[in-house]
Amino acid sequence: MTRVLNYGMVGGGPDGFIGNAHRQAINIDGKAKIVAGCFSRTEEKNEAMANQLGISSNRCYKDAFEMAEAESKREDKIDYVVIVTPNHSHYEICKAFLEAGINISCDKPLTVTSQQSKQLDALAKEKNILFMVTYTYGGHITAKHIKNIIKQGEIGEIRTVMAEYPQGWLANENDDGGKQGSWRCDPSQSGRTNCLGDIGTHIENTVANMTGLKIKRVLAKMDTVVPGRKLDDNNTVLVEYENGGSGVYWCSQIAIGHDNGLRVRIYGSKGTVQWFQETCEKLTLIKEDGTITEVHRGHGVIGESVAKYQRLPSGHTEGWLEAMANLYLSFMECINAKKDNTFTEDMIDYPTPEQGIEGLLFVEACLESNEKGNVWVEINN
Ligand SMILES: NC(=O)c1ccc[n+]([C@@H]2O[C@H](COP(=O)([O-])OP(=O)(O)OC[C@H]3O[C@@H](n4cnc5c(N)ncnc54)[C@H](O)[C@@H]3O)[C@@H](O)[C@H]2O)c1
Repeated sequence: MTRVLNYGMVGGGPDGFIGNAHRQAINIDGKAKIVAGCFSRTEEKNEAMANQLGISSNRCYKDAFEMAEAESKREDKIDYVVIVTPNHSHYEICKAFLEAGINISCDKPLTVTSQQSKQLDALAKEKNILFMVTYTYGGHITAKHIKNIIKQGEIGEIRTVMAEYPQGWLANENDDGGKQGSWRCDPSQSGRTNCLGDIGTHIENTVANMTGLKIKRVLAKMDTVVPGRKLDDNNTVLVEYENGGSGVYWCSQIAIGHDNGLRVRIYGSKGTVQWFQETCEKLTLIKEDGTITEVHRGHGVIGESVAKYQRLPSGHTEGWLEAMANLYLSFMECINAKKDNTFTEDMIDYPTPEQGIEGLLFVEACLESNEKGNVWVEINN
């Protein structure tokens, strides 16, 4: 049975970025409404956001912990919480909602250490709670299609991957990035990395999701280019996968002229696939006989398991918000199925804490590699 679910949010205040994007993405399909929240640590901003969203004052909470406790006691408690605060706070907030028995959608990176992510994953499993980590790019229909065709062997065994995520918003000394930049560049709120944790993890997850490859070891060079900055703003990582293949990942916030330039090229023994997120409606498939095919979202070539997420015919553009909405469609389908006792694990078509852990293991191995003078470091699960 499909019902309109109730959800709450922690973070996503009037000056926050991604919280509003989550709300818009959830609204696209009208399958949930927001009824509770703690949107900011500043009382006036918290109340202003609750007012704007039409949330009753007794469900606008002063902090996440009060919210988790109070919601868990309500008969009409929220069906899930969306956590969209800066990275360092994810662990304690997720833990509180897990202990309160409430399903979670938390943005990436899941925590600031792999140990914390492992603890959250174990707690979610112990309490049988649904837990999504919103690596947005895996929600694109074209990304899901690539995952399928690679699984079907269309480009053969993967030999090498070239992937990059350049941005230019923190290129200069006087670029503080406003509210978003200031916490990302502050070790006490961002953890031990800025750029690598913020967008390097998107590369790692996008490639892992499309290819199914596990990383065996990394060699990282982490640069802090802009004077006065405490954390990395440009990173190059050599990757070796468990299948013997290799990869090069580059992420940067000092690449002038780039916005969200996530680009992935995957080279196999029988062909190549390439996908650029800024033109996410299409992908290019190149076969060993030289045939070049541009696959567009909305056409019959996209299989039913993926095409079911399409809302619009081809040529009427879908993008990043729809990719986020697709993650929520699967997440909410699972929540509904749980309520109906029809849930099975194979229904999960969204990123889980396992992927959150892999992201943090990747970051930690890169930090170790860089600190030891750019040496190869194994990823130990
Ligand atoms: N999936 C993606 O593509 C993507 C994109 C951007 C950001 N993110 C992630 O989303 C998270 C938030 O990033 P952002 O850019 O929106 O940051 P932001 O600074 O724009 O917004 C954070 C919001 O959380 C509020 N907040 C902070 N601490 C809080 C607390 N303890 N309780 C309640 N509210 C609190 C702030 O007031 C603000 O409104 C980060 O983990 C980031 O990595 C993911």
